[in-house]
Amino acid sequence: MKMTPLPLLSARLGRPLQDLRISVTDRCNFRCTYCMPREQFGRDHAFLPRDEVLRFEEILRLAQMFVHLGVRKIRLTGGEPLLRRDIECLVGLLSTIPQVELALTTNGSLLEKKAQALHDAGLKRLTVSLDALDEPTFRRMTDSGSSVAQVLAGLEAAQAAGFQGLKVNAVIRKGVNEHALVDLARHFRGSGVVPRFIEYMDVGSTNGWQPNDVLGVARMRETLGHHWALEPVPADHPGEVAQRYRYRDGQGEVGFIASVTEPFCRHCTRMRLSTDGHLYTCLFATDGLDLKAPLRAGEDDRALSARVMRLWQERTDRYSEWRTLEGPVPARHKIEMSYIGG
Ligand code: GTP
Ligand code: 5AD
Ligand code: SF4
Ligand code: SF4
Repeated sequence: MKMTPLPLLSARLGRPLQDLRISVTDRCNFRCTYCMPREQFGRDHAFLPRDEVLRFEEILRLAQMFVHLGVRKIRLTGGEPLLRRDIECLVGLLSTIPQVELALTTNGSLLEKKAQALHDAGLKRLTVSLDALDEPTFRRMTDSGSSVAQVLAGLEAAQAAGFQGLKVNAVIRKGVNEHALVDLARHFRGSGVVPRFIEYMDVGSTNGWQPNDVLGVARMRETLGHHWALEPVPADHPGEVAQRYRYRDGQGEVGFIASVTEPFCRHCTRMRLSTDGHLYTCLFATDGLDLKAPLRAGEDDRALSARVMRLWQERTDRYSEWRTLEGPVPARHKIEMSYIGG
């Protein structure tokens, strides 16, 4: 009889380890103002040197170990993951691990070229970031040389390649791209693509976040409700990040991610592996656990797993809930989202 391992639970809050997010590069061809503002990530910014970056076989080995510990969903992120050379080869390696759902989040700029190869390599789930449908607002949000047209072409290529259940993530900033809410909902209604609207968060130390910049999910829902009748959809799995709604007229679904106004730390099942092999239990962490050094020193799976288990069992972090109670932590202490992924 095949034994299913018991879930690895944190001692405080009893959170099960279920998801692993792997950042495959800290580089990005966008400079989204909420993530990698150009003033901080300019030409002289020091990205990780090549030998600090985990190699594919190292990522595979760690991923397999995490699956033994109960992880059932792996998401590849960045920076921009499609900038990592031969990313489809990594997808090919990871998609051979049984029992695991593999997903990837991309800014979509290189997707038109890569969609088929990613699908052929076994990727099943894809999320594309798109913060506006008009070019001026898109440029204002992403500060990039790419375009809405290019990202939409990427989405089309993904559909043509066979991806189903595509999701589009949009960070909504009050007074900057609020109008994108209705634009994106209208555009994707009836298309099978699910747009998800995300509250702007104080991740990292560089985006100059202020509580006043946040448009709360309650307001977003109300705005969409003026245009279309929506009804809630039960969560797909415990700890689901997005609150799901469907159009009453059957034209599909939207999601809302209320990480600021309705934090979901109590159900946080995610671990994050940075490009250079450090582990973080929280998006807002200040320090990570180095796995690369012991891995490269030849430590075996048992010893590496013990490190991970200790970290998970001892985690007490619930930053978004603390923020609600005590206000944001001084910015300089936090790591960047482009380094550990979204
Ligand atoms: P699926 O269920 O697989 O679609 O993934 P997901 O719902 O976890 O969504 P995704 O990975 O696309 O994350 C969407 C956004 O939610 C991220 O870009 C973050 O802005 C936010 N988010 C995801 N996980 C966390 C988390 O653990 N903490 C906080 N505060 N925000 C998160
Ligand atoms: N607030 C909310 N989400 C963010 N992301 C990056 N920075 C932020 C932020 N400050 C998320 C977005 C983007 C993904 C790669 O990371 O969802 O689509
Ligand atoms: Fe790049 Fe994504 Fe960050 Fe934008 S949000 S700068 S696309 S990593
Ligand atoms: Fe998890 Fe930290 Fe996000 Fe809370 S703030 S849901 S603990 S990653």
